[in-house]
Amino acid sequence: MKASVILAHPYRGSFNHAIFETVCRVFRERGVEVFGHDLYAERFDPVLTAEELGSDSSRDPLVNLCARELVESDLLFFIHPNWWGQPPAILKGYIDRVIRPPHAYDFPPGDSGGGLPIGKLAGKRGVVINTSNTPAERENDYFGDPLEHIWGRCVFGFCGIEKYYRRMFMMVADSDVEERTRWLKEVGEITDAAVAGVLFAS
Ligand SMILES: Cc1cc2nc3c(=O)[nH]c(=O)nc-3n(C[C@H](O)[C@H](O)[C@H](O)COP(=O)(O)O)c2cc1C
Repeated sequence: MKASVILAHPYRGSFNHAIFETVCRVFRERGVEVFGHDLYAERFDPVLTAEELGSDSSRDPLVNLCARELVESDLLFFIHPNWWGQPPAILKGYIDRVIRPPHAYDFPPGDSGGGLPIGKLAGKRGVVINTSNTPAERENDYFGDPLEHIWGRCVFGFCGIEKYYRRMFMMVADSDVEERTRWLKEVGEITDAAVAGVLFAS
């Protein structure tokens, strides 16, 4: 089994980094081959250029590596804070540049892009782990939990990934060491359950 684990957080001491390290450690303990990327540490360039937009490939070796790993992976993990109801821009750039046709989705012959896409990542499983500082009720009732739509429908659904799991840890700003320790234990359990396949049972 192989897993891409993508982290978007600039601060090495962040709770997001602790989540990333926990996920990678549990995967390795279970014998899963991990393609781990700390996007800020690797200085991932998020800008999709005109040249790249008109092509199926990229001149950026990191983009090509991430795309190959995406296709090879059984599990796709994304770890990021809630920033304005969206992923940080660096991860948005990863989505723009890596989750691209023809390997992630495509359109039927003769369709110029206005029809329904063919999801090329069908069969893979997605996991999103978020952190935020908004109470759950306000996030859901007032903001409408935009990250759920972005990942569930706009990204995973578009690429044919039907089964995914998302967990938002809130509120990080008010949490203490005990709570964060419990959360990291849960991250380990989520990772274990993803490997076992039981995380995605409907
Ligand atoms: C640019 C920016 C935008 C943010 N927007 C939101 C937001 O829309 N909703 C929210 O709950 N928290 C927001 N936050 C707070 C982060 O989600 C919070 O700091 C993070 O989840 C805590 O995790 P960490 O300790 O790993 O940084 C924002 C923070 C930054 C820096």
